Amino acid sequence: MSETLANLLQETREFPPPAALAAEANVTAEAYAEAAADRLAFWDKQARRLDWARDWDQVLDWSNPPFAKWFVGGQLNVAYNCLDRHVKAGLGDRVAIHWEGEPGDTRTITYADLLRMTSQAANALTDLGVTAGDRVAIYLPMIPEAAVAMLACARIGATHSVVFGGFSVDALTNRIQDASAKVVITADGGYRRGKPSALKPTVDDAVAQCPTVEHVLVVRRTGGEVTWTDKDLWWHDTVETAAEQHEAQPFDAEHPLFILYTSGTTARPKGILHTTGGYLTQVSYTTHAVFDLKPETDVFWCTADIGWVTGHSYIVYGPLSNAATQIMYEGTPDTPHKGRFWEIVDRYRATILYTAPTLIRTMMKWGDDIPAGYDLSSLRLLGSVGEPINPEAWIWYRQHVGRGELPVVDTWWQTETGGMMISPLPGVTAAKPGSAMSPLPGISADVVDDQGVPVPNGGGGYLVLSEPWPSMLRTIWGDDQRFIDTYWSRFPGRYFAGDGAKKDADGHVWLLGRVDDVMLVSGHNISTTEVESALVSHPSVAEAAVVGATDPTTGQAIVAFTIPRGHVDTAGEAGEALIAELRNHVAKSLGPIAKPRQIMLVPELPKTRSGKIMRRLLRDVAENRSLGDVTTLQDSSVMELISSGLTSGK
Ligand code: WT7
Repeated sequence: MSETLANLLQETREFPPPAALAAEANVTAEAYAEAAADRLAFWDKQARRLDWARDWDQVLDWSNPPFAKWFVGGQLNVAYNCLDRHVKAGLGDRVAIHWEGEPGDTRTITYADLLRMTSQAANALTDLGVTAGDRVAIYLPMIPEAAVAMLACARIGATHSVVFGGFSVDALTNRIQDASAKVVITADGGYRRGKPSALKPTVDDAVAQCPTVEHVLVVRRTGGEVTWTDKDLWWHDTVETAAEQHEAQPFDAEHPLFILYTSGTTARPKGILHTTGGYLTQVSYTTHAVFDLKPETDVFWCTADIGWVTGHSYIVYGPLSNAATQIMYEGTPDTPHKGRFWEIVDRYRATILYTAPTLIRTMMKWGDDIPAGYDLSSLRLLGSVGEPINPEAWIWYRQHVGRGELPVVDTWWQTETGGMMISPLPGVTAAKPGSAMSPLPGISADVVDDQGVPVPNGGGGYLVLSEPWPSMLRTIWGDDQRFIDTYWSRFPGRYFAGDGAKKDADGHVWLLGRVDDVMLVSGHNISTTEVESALVSHPSVAEAAVVGATDPTTGQAIVAFTIPRGHVDTAGEAGEALIAELRNHVAKSLGPIAKPRQIMLVPELPKTRSGKIMRRLLRDVAENRSLGDVTTLQDSSVMELISSGLTSGK
């Protein structure tokens, strides 16, 4: 990316931490100095926040890169660290999970409850013949049993593979087969958009093709009708009748904890493998540091689904290892009304909210008056993850959710990194809207050019991670060579994240989206993220997705799909005028080279189930092709909506 239009976006706003938060912060600037002086000693110290059954002999073994071993010789039990030790410390009555179902049913689960439920599930799985090292697939809605199932696997050393409950038969089948899972844990169904949605038929079809599966445990959630096979067992007959005592055994620090498949749209999904000691160390520490979590008083809410890594690390393992009280919600943000999230924040007095830019932009589109209708005064910290957050969405989040005063932490990481890597520290960093700022203490990242040479401040290129980190993926399940090829070959010795990035004049990191999405216009590399942010900075725009379409004169040309904000008139000439204005607006903010050839006003954008925009499909529209594979779309009717309602200006 030698010719990247670096610093196209002149974002100069900066928001220092609130003085009161800084004064009481869990982590201060000292942590950076400490980690810089001795990175391994720093992680050694963070690992000691956990309870280990056996101490380690070596912090990091990097003698056979890229295969890392952290806390070599150490032993611990992940579930013990998330449950037993808190109950032993007298915290059994503390609420672990305030759960809310989409229809409005609720459950309050204390740490003592969660320990009992997990022990029962561990005993039941053991009775079914599951032993350490076996794989268990979990295909559940967002109900407490999802966390219980994961913790029970961790407790007995079985490796879980959670498959998002919205995935199809094929996706589930591939994942069960790739990991040779012995047991599947599922439910009759869950609630989604106001109605029960069945899961069991998908499992039936998948299991019919998966001879390794010996048993299917079924939670009753919706009470819907299910067909029963001889492999099926009800959770309430099996787990809820099992013994309530279970003694957790320690496992090796490098024992496999879970496999999670990245949702690749073209290539075969990759089973990302995470292990025990390093993973728990980093997710536990980052929960403490980045969310400034105070377990006695905070009420934490991460809105992700447990089927994504965000749910693994910041619903299950991070918060629970810190003895946090958290909220878990089953459903969608607009069921039964668009204030649902804010109602939940208000009801449980949430103090920390962690959500995704796609949701923030959706809330912007729905209008400022919706959050304004609720009491959000309990909130003290806001987080974002999953995509680059456009500066205007960041500002809106802080303004309309954060009363114009709360810190926003924009956290960059990946399924592969296991835990957060680049993020502000809320008590230390003066955050810039749209920037993930700096690598966390103990993390080494850089931005390099094509040749792997670090770019100077002001330059752009590829994001790399230059030293191993505790929660790094250990391999791709069953495919060491693919692990090496995908992540460690582009820049030997360094991890290639696949994201474009730039360093600003102060050396802070700005993520520019996946490198595959960068556009080449008249010989200039232009980031989709920057053009999208320029569009979203216009008061009439809620959301935008930009793609490069083949163009006879410029190689690629910029085509933008834009969702107007709720109040904006786009009929007839007003629409044409808005399009003209937006094209000029982008040219003015980024320079004439970035002026979109074409802007289309659309009601929706195609997104994957984890909320990422599927630019591939928009490229098909922009280049007048028939659509490629749409099976990973969250809502398959969106593409029809886009193609039928196009208002396009050239
Ligand atoms: C990709 C990883 C991290 C858990 C959820 C997604 C993008 C993620 C940010 C951020 C800019 C971000 C990157 C990354 N991404 N967070 N704060 N700023 N981009 O996990 O599905 O493995 O996706 O999401 O492109 O590589 P994932």
